Amino acid sequence: MIIGVPQEIKTEENRVAMIPAGVEIMTHHGHTVLIESGAGCGSGFSDDTYREHGAEILDTPQEVYTRAEMIMHVKEPQPAEYKLIKKNHILFTYLHLAADRQQTKALIQSKAVCIAYETIQKDDGSLPLLTPMSEVAGRMSVQEAAKYLEMSQGGLGVLLGGVTGVDPGNVLVIGGGVVGVNAAKMACGLGAKVTILDTNLDKLRYLSDIMPKNCFPLMSSPAAIRDLISRADVVIGAVLLPGAKAPKLISRAMLATMKQGSVLVDVAIDQGGCFETSHPTTHKDPVYTVDGIVHYCVSNMPGAVAKTSTMALTNATLPYALKIADRGWQQAMRSNSDIARGANVIDGKITYRNVAEALNMAYTPVQTFL
Ligand SMILES: NC(=O)c1ccc[n+]([C@@H]2O[C@H](COP(=O)([O-])OP(=O)(O)OC[C@H]3O[C@@H](n4cnc5c(N)ncnc54)[C@H](O)[C@@H]3O)[C@@H](O)[C@H]2O)c1
Repeated sequence: MIIGVPQEIKTEENRVAMIPAGVEIMTHHGHTVLIESGAGCGSGFSDDTYREHGAEILDTPQEVYTRAEMIMHVKEPQPAEYKLIKKNHILFTYLHLAADRQQTKALIQSKAVCIAYETIQKDDGSLPLLTPMSEVAGRMSVQEAAKYLEMSQGGLGVLLGGVTGVDPGNVLVIGGGVVGVNAAKMACGLGAKVTILDTNLDKLRYLSDIMPKNCFPLMSSPAAIRDLISRADVVIGAVLLPGAKAPKLISRAMLATMKQGSVLVDVAIDQGGCFETSHPTTHKDPVYTVDGIVHYCVSNMPGAVAKTSTMALTNATLPYALKIADRGWQQAMRSNSDIARGANVIDGKITYRNVAEALNMAYTPVQTFL
């Protein structure tokens, strides 16, 4: 198969969908890898390094899309790329369609086979291509919150770890999945007082076994959230309903009960955000303030630490990309249900139920195409 890796064009996105070591493995399997010139620069990989590992370097995205059968990206295609996606393509990338009607329509029109990293799902319900980026975003969320708590950044001037004789900061993490646990671990490591909420009792039981003493796992409910936000210096939104829009857990009216200068980090912003007042921001302009509360809502947080993120992401995507390239998408989906669950749009039809429901559009089961 011919695999194309264009440069990411989303603002401040420095990751790349395949590293040179991945190119070498693909070419050993008999595949051809086309890399757009400069695609790896942000992650520290030069065109020459890709060439040494067997890639062909092309000057423009147009050339990559024209020749490739499978396009591997990191972030969802941007409007400038929509017209490059054609019926003969397999598009393998993060898509996050449930919150993006415009992109969904463009992919329907393209008639391509669109497989979303974020809905590739194992039989145990875990999301192996979301996990590495969730680890990065969770860990980063606390680093960012600590920065925006500083007064020069508009924050309330609290040091998360406190100091001798002074209380540490209060961190509330909503969602005890991969983002939430990684955020809680970092906040605990800094010495903050951490509360982590989840609706899943088994998860809470597990968290109370493994988390340090300064972490308090509690059952999530509207009442618990109302109570805890009034004491929090930082709230991290880390919930997920797979493939669906995030539930709005903090309304604008509730901000009035929070401390002025406290920081909300809405990591779930890529699924529409879990706070009513969230809207997506970029690394160039990451925060804004609503009713005295600082909001950090960057939808591609891992892009800021591209070297770590690229390695973590491609460790997870390559085995799936290899199966798709070796077997073709239909055989790969027939023989691997993780990949079949990744199908979001095929030949103009939405094949992921939660996306269809979120957008109130028709749903066609992926099995129809296999
Ligand atoms: N902004 C970014 O750059 C970035 C990067 C990575 C992941 N994300 C997003 O972060 C979010 C979390 O991802 P994850 O990998 O941790 O998912 P996950 O599935 O591992 O965890 C989500 C958790 O939320 C819990 N949950 C659901 N509804 C809840 C509620 N009402 N109250 C409390 N908990 C609730 C679930 O039980 C689950 O444990 C997703 O929206 C994901 O897309 C964003």
